[in-house]
Amino acid sequence: MSIVDNKLQAFGKLVRKGTVVPASDRAPGPLKVGVDLGTANLVLAVTDAQNNPVAGATFRSTVVRDGIVVDYIGAVHAVRKMKADLEQRLGQPLQQAATAIPPGIRPGNAKAIGNVVEAADLHLVEIVDEPTAAARLLGVKDGAVVDVGGGTTGISVLKNGEVIAVFDEATGGTHMTLVLAGAKKLLFEDAEIEKLDPRNERDVFALVRPVVDKMSTIVARFLANHPDVKTIYVVGGACSFTEFEAVMAQHTGRRVIKPVEPLLVTPLGIAMFDNGGRQ
Ligand SMILES: Nc1ncnc2c1ncn2[C@@H]1O[C@H](COP(=O)(O)OP(=O)(O)OP(=O)(O)O)[C@@H](O)[C@H]1O
Ligand SMILES: [Mg+2]
Repeated sequence: MSIVDNKLQAFGKLVRKGTVVPASDRAPGPLKVGVDLGTANLVLAVTDAQNNPVAGATFRSTVVRDGIVVDYIGAVHAVRKMKADLEQRLGQPLQQAATAIPPGIRPGNAKAIGNVVEAADLHLVEIVDEPTAAARLLGVKDGAVVDVGGGTTGISVLKNGEVIAVFDEATGGTHMTLVLAGAKKLLFEDAEIEKLDPRNERDVFALVRPVVDKMSTIVARFLANHPDVKTIYVVGGACSFTEFEAVMAQHTGRRVIKPVEPLLVTPLGIAMFDNGGRQ
């Protein structure tokens, strides 16, 4: 397993178990914080000064939609709560954070995201592009990052470490849940529970496969203009299905790599941009 996968796996365990890495096992220096305000999940990632995961929290929520804050008070309360929980577990305050926005978002909306972080009493160090954060964690300088989140599939092409092209399409995990709800005549909430139960993965994937085909076709079409891209890195919760990368590889003709814990790649990457306010 690669160093990045080890790091992601360790972070996943901390988040799920609600545990923290003790101070004696951390690199010296200030803690770094990343706040990811997604459509389906809010995630707070805490690392030590060497970018090793220390603690994390996720919160399922609909206060932000595709980078737009739709419930400001709700978002602030959720971030405050996650911060307070983590501070209690860590036994020390969290002071500053980096956050991220989907590519191509308007400055006003980016400001609202930043305001949420500041209203939770975290000094805002930087607002980074989500794919740039994911690429930084993965150590990707050239290739494509495809983020399959709750609301959207975002494609970003990177060259020499810079994002040179982006495309967003409104198909994500929510659409998979809608397809499942329709096929099995379930309420959305029940279909979401069914979708996330690993015991159902095979049957669920057979039903949501057309959504994955559609996402993959969109990616293939966009990347037709970027023949240099040899490798696609898929991140985001909705690519969690075991067969996801095989389907995307088939449609795009490129190598598709999915890190472990794809949902946690962007949040951990965002924390890397928290340099404590130093230039
Ligand atoms: N194990 C899983 N299997 C299938 N789908 C999953 C799994 N885990 C999470 N998801 C789906 O992933 C989606 C959330 O992913 P993620 O947290 O990356 O989105 P987000 O960042 O909140 O949204 P966006 O990036 O669109 O703003 C949800 O639709 C959720 O149902
Ligand atoms: Mg996201």
